Amino acid sequence: MAQAIQSRGPVTGTAVKAKKRRPFLLDLYGTAVGKKYVMAVTGIMLLGFVLTHMIGNLKMYLGAEDYNHYAEFLREVLVPILPRTVLLWLLRFGLIGAVLLHIHAAYSLTVMNRKARSVKYQSPRDYQIANFASRTMRWTGIIVALFVLWHLADLTWGTLNAVGGDGVFVRGDAYGNVVRSLERVPVAVLYIVANIALGTHLFHGVWSLFQSMGWNNPRFNKWRRGIATAFATIIVVGNVSFPIAVLAGIVGK
Ligand code: HEM
Repeated sequence: MAQAIQSRGPVTGTAVKAKKRRPFLLDLYGTAVGKKYVMAVTGIMLLGFVLTHMIGNLKMYLGAEDYNHYAEFLREVLVPILPRTVLLWLLRFGLIGAVLLHIHAAYSLTVMNRKARSVKYQSPRDYQIANFASRTMRWTGIIVALFVLWHLADLTWGTLNAVGGDGVFVRGDAYGNVVRSLERVPVAVLYIVANIALGTHLFHGVWSLFQSMGWNNPRFNKWRRGIATAFATIIVVGNVSFPIAVLAGIVGK
């Protein structure tokens, strides 16, 4: 009997169209849990970048030669196994992919949540807390994304480095470019404000990362806030110190 049912084709006219199977990862990404995983994994990649970038920038305190040597080293990693800048480009593509996925997952989770919440939160307090965290993430995320575009035009492409300054961008002189950029007071203020926005984003991000990855063992939970605060503080203090050091004349003279 069971065999007869299995071998029977669809009943003409009443068959429900079989849903096309998508690859497992795409199927998973279609769910809220999958999107949260993607946010968390790409978030971890971006945390790794901001931490190494900040540590690399500390070389500024050792002077122009060390800083420029480090910038050149990044282009030379794995030479001669790979041609010059190839590893750097692979890392750049990984980073761009992580940023795009992070933004897409955040956007589609927001759309999904909006559709799901046809009934409002019953307690105004819960609403305020949930709303504050998600609104903060959205706005700080947008500020950081706009800052990164500005920052690339300033220190990588050089198009904005000269605006309002002494009009020079020297390829291969990362130290000089940073100093000439941060000597402009409005630019230094922009770097400080953007890095405070980044710190807020990192704090909420690291905090919710534990939840998204399912790492909510009571043993971790008491460390969660501490880890999020420590990470965000290290990045903000390091990054904000650079414009202050340039303005104070500690770096660049
Ligand atoms: C005051 C803090 C910062 C300083 C002094 C700084 C400095 C620099 C410099 C000099 C470069 C060009 C490196 C080169 O061409 O060799 C660069 C590239 C870059 N920075 Fe920053 N940066 C800072 C903060 C940030 C922050 C907060 C982010 C991201 C949230 C960021 C993201 C990037 C990216 C994506 C690149 C391009 C990397 C590449 O093309 O290889 N930076 N930064």
